[in-house]
Amino acid sequence: MKKIIAVDGPAGAGKSTVSKIVARKLAYTYIDTGAMYRAVGLKVLLNGGNFADDSIVDAARDVDIKLDAAGKIFLDGDDVTTKIRTPEVSKAASDVAKVGFVRTKLTQLQREMAAQGSVVMDGRDIGTQVLPNADLKIFLTASVDERARRRFDELKAKGHAADFDTIRDEIILRDKQDSQREIAPLAQAEDAILLDTTHLSIDEVVAQILELAK
Ligand code: DC
Repeated sequence: MKKIIAVDGPAGAGKSTVSKIVARKLAYTYIDTGAMYRAVGLKVLLNGGNFADDSIVDAARDVDIKLDAAGKIFLDGDDVTTKIRTPEVSKAASDVAKVGFVRTKLTQLQREMAAQGSVVMDGRDIGTQVLPNADLKIFLTASVDERARRRFDELKAKGHAADFDTIRDEIILRDKQDSQREIAPLAQAEDAILLDTTHLSIDEVVAQILELAK
């Protein structure tokens, strides 16, 4: 079995849903790196919402981020698992993810977490930057409309007000921001396997990854 599995791709491609199930089936640890960027984004918002580089670096300098085995995320000791899932925090996460200091800090933390072995880690730069020696690299994509539909359904299910066109526009903006930033942009590693999930069910994607993990 492949011990270190990296899953990258744009927002809404199904990374976290699929990675969580794959990790559970293999009895591996699931590490959601997007949640870590979200936690830093939330901290900047809680500090007053100043997104100048200096303020972001200040928020990140001594930030304490922990993920527990149940998938909860803690920011400076507080459980922020649900707070980090709002559209406002999505935008904040994408903003802080552009800053080199934040990336260096979180990359280091992510490598330490993976060093324990047997992990499924998902994000944008896991196969290219964080774990270039991962045993298996997957790049998940889906069409923009399908990804917007998934986010829309997810937000509605959680009781958030949602407008499809706004979500679609936000996804396009975030894709652009994540793929065009200077440091560690969203990109498929040369040795990653591309899976387009537009017309695949969650079970089908999981089955393909489990097969590749053998
Ligand atoms: O996967 P997500 O939507 O929770 O990620 C939130 C933001 O964090 C997203 O805009 C991209 C960024 N991110 C990143 O730059 N690198 C990662 N490894 C994970 C997420």
